[in-house]
Amino acid sequence: MTIRVPDNFERPGITASAFTSALSQAANGVSVVTTALDDLKAGLTVSSMCSVCADPALLLVCVNLENEFCTLADRSGHFAVNILSSHGVELATVFAGLSDSPVQSRFDTGHWTRLTTGSPILSNALVALDCKIDSSQVKGTHRVFFGKVVDVRTTSGEPLLYTDRRFAVVEPVPL
Ligand SMILES: Cc1cc2nc3c(=O)[nH]c(=O)nc-3n(C[C@H](O)[C@H](O)[C@H](O)COP(=O)(O)O)c2cc1C
Repeated sequence: MTIRVPDNFERPGITASAFTSALSQAANGVSVVTTALDDLKAGLTVSSMCSVCADPALLLVCVNLENEFCTLADRSGHFAVNILSSHGVELATVFAGLSDSPVQSRFDTGHWTRLTTGSPILSNALVALDCKIDSSQVKGTHRVFFGKVVDVRTTSGEPLLYTDRRFAVVEPVPL
């Protein structure tokens, strides 16, 4: 007997592990996203940063709702995206909670400064983008923060990548 699947058949959603496993094959840049209010600071490693549009300069990051970054960013109204260079593996590890460093001492790693908003800026970030929060939206387990870029600082170097669940560097393909 042949089973006919109707044209409007809706496939069941895939599992979270199938989704993350598929996307682990993509390559992404690695950033440390930070925010601060008075003496309080929060930051985490993300690969979800991407540009939304250039005029006005707008980007987004997706942050797990359980991360303390979300509540502090809501209160401060700003955040910074520090795109890491290939020398940033230690920082990426610390801000992903994958090292022995306690959460309160994360900012002891690296040299930090500030630009316009007051969010922590990594001195040797490949690119630092200082943002005022435009808006945010909760989607499932994460909050999507849209940031209006109000200041930018660039240095030279190679970007740090994350692919196949490990850090990697760019190897140019000869043409
Ligand atoms: C390469 C990499 C990319 C990540 N990207 C994200 C991300 O886009 N959003 C997010 O919420 N967590 C992301 N994480 C996980 C957070 O860095 C990690 O859960 C968080 O720092 C640990 O939570 P804590 O800050 O409460 O200790 C990523 C981790 C790694 C190693």
